[in-house]
Amino acid sequence: MSEPRTDAKISGMGHSMKRKEDPRFIRGKGNYVDDFVLPGMLYMDIVRSPHAHAKIKKINTVRALKIPGVLAVIDGPTLAKYNLHWMPTISADTQMVLPIDEVMYQAQEVCAVIATERYIAADGVDAVEVEYEPLPVMVDPHKSLAPGAPVLRRDKKDKKDNLAFHWEAGDKADAERALAAADVVISENVYLPRIHVASMETCGCIADFNSAEGKLTVYMTTQAPHAVRTVFALVAGHVGLSEEKIRIVSPDIGGGFGGKVPVYPGYVIAVAASVVIGKPVKWIEDRMENLQADSFARDYHMKVELGANKDGTMTSLKIKTVADHGYANASANPSKFPAGLFSICTGSYDLKHAFCEVDAAYTHKPPGGVAYRCSFRVTEAVHAIERATDALAQKLDMDPAELRMKNFIRPEQFPYKSVLGWEYDSGDYGAALRKVMDIVGYDALRREQAEKRKRGELMGIGICSFTEIVGAGPSKHFDILGLKMFDSAEIRVHPTGKAIARFGTKSQGQGHETTYAQIVAEELGIPAAHVQVEEGDTDTAPYGLGTYASRSTPTSGAACALAARKIRDKAKKLAAHLLEVSENDLEWEPGKFFVKGAPQKAKTIQEIAFAAYTNHPQGMEAGLEAVHYYDPPNLTFPFGSYICVVDIDRGTGEVKVRRFVAVDDCGNIINPMIVEGQIHGGLTQGIGPALYEEISYDDEGNISGGSFLDYYVPTALETPHWETDKTVTPSPHHPFGAKGVGESATVGAPPAIANAVVDALRHLGVTHLDIPITPEKVWQILKKKGVAE
Ligand code: CDP
Repeated sequence: MSEPRTDAKISGMGHSMKRKEDPRFIRGKGNYVDDFVLPGMLYMDIVRSPHAHAKIKKINTVRALKIPGVLAVIDGPTLAKYNLHWMPTISADTQMVLPIDEVMYQAQEVCAVIATERYIAADGVDAVEVEYEPLPVMVDPHKSLAPGAPVLRRDKKDKKDNLAFHWEAGDKADAERALAAADVVISENVYLPRIHVASMETCGCIADFNSAEGKLTVYMTTQAPHAVRTVFALVAGHVGLSEEKIRIVSPDIGGGFGGKVPVYPGYVIAVAASVVIGKPVKWIEDRMENLQADSFARDYHMKVELGANKDGTMTSLKIKTVADHGYANASANPSKFPAGLFSICTGSYDLKHAFCEVDAAYTHKPPGGVAYRCSFRVTEAVHAIERATDALAQKLDMDPAELRMKNFIRPEQFPYKSVLGWEYDSGDYGAALRKVMDIVGYDALRREQAEKRKRGELMGIGICSFTEIVGAGPSKHFDILGLKMFDSAEIRVHPTGKAIARFGTKSQGQGHETTYAQIVAEELGIPAAHVQVEEGDTDTAPYGLGTYASRSTPTSGAACALAARKIRDKAKKLAAHLLEVSENDLEWEPGKFFVKGAPQKAKTIQEIAFAAYTNHPQGMEAGLEAVHYYDPPNLTFPFGSYICVVDIDRGTGEVKVRRFVAVDDCGNIINPMIVEGQIHGGLTQGIGPALYEEISYDDEGNISGGSFLDYYVPTALETPHWETDKTVTPSPHHPFGAKGVGESATVGAPPAIANAVVDALRHLGVTHLDIPITPEKVWQILKKKGVAE
């Protein structure tokens, strides 16, 4: 057995030195968890395993505890005394907080050092000596699922294999019959590699247990504060942490993208340490811990079969997936959808026969997988269908735009019931594709490509016409750990006509402070600048499931409008009282009620608000406020068409994105500038996995991609100029016709880029390339085909 890698942070050598040089340690004065300093605060750092699978023979803490300022080392047996050494994952699997005798992935938490200073805690980590006995490692999910494979989760009684779950949708026999009857069938193995959200801010918390009050406050980087509070109460209720005594505060968050939905062991250990020691305990991951140990995304091995008639009419789809979930299924999926919303895989096409299935495997890797800036596995589904559509066009020798136009669900078919069970709310896919083709100058580009091909130059044009499914979700189908996925808004209008609005969601940079205030302004006529928006404090915000999967606008955005409308209803009664007319005689225009036919007889919302506290009619409750818990009747289905133009360097294999045009449709837009920002960010997080990002493991489970030296995220240099535009197809069921948008671009960009590269190489017989499409990968093909320069 080879030695584990020693260049990773977990090696221990040079560990604290690296930390001292880390510029992140220069404290800012922001509102992020790492900016907070509480009186008497202690610091926690974590000892992590260099092995992917090993027996822990001994943890020697003597040297660590001799360091002045090191106060305690918390290990698995310590937590086991309180039955806190295991915790549930959000997918109702189980995950170690700290191990008793066995580690299951490289960089797993082994024990935690508590000290008076951050650097002393790091020195304590270096001084802890752990004796391991390496054990055989399983990194390949296919081998893990093979009959006779050694069982990884021996902690689970009666578990005889490594299947985390099997899930399927559709009629298998029907899809197979249709595939057999198809004139043309393409079959491609499409792999979406393991990647990481790599948010600018890593995860962390300060756990502050006040023993006088018996109250626990946790300042933490979470996208779902209320859900975390409930989970903490359920997991630690037996040690006295009851829900009314737990306050989760999620301050400003430097990017979440799904990676800050799970509860990580570090949070639980910090809470346990604070409860035991009675002082605030701060734990902030460093960059390498974040990349190596936090939940990953993707890691889907998909076999995609798409069938069609000779004329290009798509008839049938079948996708079989092996999903690598690491040693625990810790994905943040609604409980009825263990493979997320993967069954949106029929995409924008009117497919009558389809079947998809997912086998999730346990392996010796960190647990996951998170929905990285996508609505629960939509990225995987869209990549599969959009790559397959291009492969089909290639086989039929049809233009990929023409093939898409032929198969799109037509506008008059909405609401459209897909064969895999979804009801698409609205769409006009042809309009979006036509628009993007016009902007990019599609026909001229095809002519240019033909010319260049004659000269041996490599140029490709890639299309992606995606359909998203966001806004989880209708509570009859959607819950996480039993918590139904409604969301909420509470608005209070103060006597002077200013307002505070609070929500169950939690922005991580999406601009809720602006857009929610705009919704209140639109509905009540109170200027947005007079509306204070608050999220993320469970002591004050109404209960909600948080922000991920582009759900905020479809859920809390809707709740905001409906709470405002409740306030408007009461304002009408107050206006009628003030104007001494019947409510039926009043008309509304944003900001005031006036008497029909006599617009000068009016009361502004500010005058009405004042009256709600000073001059309300007898028998009416004082005040002007409302709360609404919104249970969406359906999801929203934003969509878009993207075109990417690439040139490939025959000398280096480098792919240069020359143009990228994105036409998005998220229904009615609250704030065009914020939406454009969302698209720009999403596209950049799309080019990353398409061309650069991958976390892989060697046979011993050693990570590659565990630092920014070898996990290559795009910077301004790699990011092309994005051209964006829109079509507007309102959602018929959302209170103001909006759909979510936060994740569309991350979903749509990778297949557009991959399709462009394959298009550049199709005349060489290339039908598929897995992402990331690195220069090395392309150059090897060029060399093999004899066209490398
Ligand atoms: O849940 P998350 O905030 O990540 O996603 P979202 O609901 O798609 O919203 C992202 C941002 O775009 C928010 O500030 C929304 O209010 C804004 N947005 C908008 O202005 N118009 C839309 N139709 C959709 C979102």
